[in-house]
Amino acid sequence: MRIVVLVGLPGSGKSTYLAQLGVTGLSSDAIRGLLADDETDQTIHDRVFQALRYLLRQRLAIGRSATYIDATNLTVEERRPYIGIGKSYGCDVEAVFFDVPLEVCRARNARRHRVVPEDAMAKMSAKLAPPDIDEGFSRVTAIPGREP
Ligand code: UTP
Ligand code: MG
Repeated sequence: MRIVVLVGLPGSGKSTYLAQLGVTGLSSDAIRGLLADDETDQTIHDRVFQALRYLLRQRLAIGRSATYIDATNLTVEERRPYIGIGKSYGCDVEAVFFDVPLEVCRARNARRHRVVPEDAMAKMSAKLAPPDIDEGFSRVTAIPGREP
């Protein structure tokens, strides 16, 4: 079994990538919608990620071969739980890094209907730490994006 942790700023193309693969990831935004009827609700962060991890464990318990984590996953701390869960179920944990400049993410973000505020984009960009194999990933892949 594999856990694939997507890493990237809002607008970096994580959900688009999953749509192109034809897979449904565990999406923190979708879970916000399920819990609070609002995909943009940022006040229930802990519950959202508890629910996401619960769903991940349930998928591993029934032997699903691949689970994609569709959230920004910007820091080592945010990514660490997936390494631990992967270990306890004996599965590989990979990272896919959407290496897209802030300006490109901003431009894409401005064109879509769910617009992340500018100041939030800047804060997230400052927080972003690209995933590293030393965190415990079995593989780290980078997907560059330069086209606005
Ligand atoms: P996504 O909605 O895929 O970004 O793309 P994301 O990483 O999942 O963002 P968050 O974290 O959920 O907020 C954002 C916009 O960028 C366009 C998509 O069509 C979408 O409107 N896009 C994505 C491109 O124009 N080119 C790409 O290569 C990828
Ligand atoms: Mg998305």
